[in-house]
Amino acid sequence: MHSILPLIEAKRDGHALGAADIAALIGAVVRGEVPDYQLAAWLMAVVLRGMDAAETAALTDAMAHSGVRLDLSRIAGPIVDKHSTGGVGDKTTLVVGPLAAATGLVVAKMSGRGLGHTGGTLDKLESIPGLTVDLDTERFIRHAEHVGLVIAGQSADLAPADRILYALRDVTGTVPSLPLIAASIMSKKLAAGARAIVLDVKVGKGAFMTDLAAARALAGTMVALGRAADPPRRVAALISAMDEPLGFAIGNALEVREAVQTLRGTGPDDLTALSLELAGLMHVAGGTYATVDEARPALLEAIRSGQALERLKRMVEAQGGDPRAIDDDGRLPRAAIVHAVPSERAGVLTTVDARALGDAAVALGAGRRVKGEAIDPAVGIVLGAKVGSAVSIGDTLAWVHAHSAAAAEAGAAAVRAAMRFGDGHGAAPPRPLVRETILP
Ligand code: URA
Repeated sequence: MHSILPLIEAKRDGHALGAADIAALIGAVVRGEVPDYQLAAWLMAVVLRGMDAAETAALTDAMAHSGVRLDLSRIAGPIVDKHSTGGVGDKTTLVVGPLAAATGLVVAKMSGRGLGHTGGTLDKLESIPGLTVDLDTERFIRHAEHVGLVIAGQSADLAPADRILYALRDVTGTVPSLPLIAASIMSKKLAAGARAIVLDVKVGKGAFMTDLAAARALAGTMVALGRAADPPRRVAALISAMDEPLGFAIGNALEVREAVQTLRGTGPDDLTALSLELAGLMHVAGGTYATVDEARPALLEAIRSGQALERLKRMVEAQGGDPRAIDDDGRLPRAAIVHAVPSERAGVLTTVDARALGDAAVALGAGRRVKGEAIDPAVGIVLGAKVGSAVSIGDTLAWVHAHSAAAAEAGAAAVRAAMRFGDGHGAAPPRPLVRETILP
């Protein structure tokens, strides 16, 4: 390709691009022929102008074929993938993966890094000492066979176009776009080979889709892309609330701790409920149970018996991590300062702004502001109260985990600004966690 300038201009002016042009663009991106500034300009044009269904399908297909496609056929058992569109405090994969694997599914999952104000499973996992998410295809498939659970980064050769676009979108304000999100997620899922896929589409202040109509459109688009793929996939989706962070912890090692608590049966109610729902839906997509309710007793038993936690430890060990960090969280990275933020007001919390808290966690070092920036696994925020909590003056609103007093102060100010109080009367009832479900 000589120049992508005509494609930037065409998109800037609101024209639909043909499948051949999109394929040529993605090919040039993967060959390293497109400079970041042109790609960023094209991405921004897509954010502002959108893409129609045919363009989105062509982009997904070109990205899914931009590298190798995994052949998982040698793995016995129902293989089910899961993906979230991204949220704040969303550590569900760390709970759902072990839960699903301990109850008979094979979870072979390629995850992502933090994106914008949202966290990423790979960054969370890497806070476990020694653990690697860089697995070649052979090792990825071997772990899926022997452990039933593997969570890795996209290998360099799987959907490489997404890896390039994702890193650039993260730092150019070009994440919130239905076609870009749908193509990013579905290209990875299609290339990764699972025949059954469960999508967790987040909606609300802390999500890329802030209103229900947009989340519904994204969910519908991704489900349709999966069902129309060759071979067709069984795709199910949830639309789940992301107005306040999920659980209490935001930040990589802090979220691993909370996921482990949840696998012990002592995690936050919202995270536990969503994890059970997603794992149940994975069973429905995988064909092992007819309904989420039928799957629930086995999932609860996997938590009660410790089998789900055991499965996480096996995965950590297989990926070179220290499984003792799962039993003893003192082995996870810790920040130098844990700064409690006392409430200066009394009342009932009506807002805990997930977007603002996600940004605050990034500012503390839990996410990236420029491409390739190192993140700090120890820092973040642990909430002391959620929407609906009655708070008295002096109660702890949150603990800011930071590496300097200045960062802790800035984090504390962000926590205060992210919370709104009411008198508890006439408040709107909290929105349900699971807003809608699309069955496979
Ligand atoms: N998750 C992804 O993998 N890609 C996106 O674009 C957004 C969330």
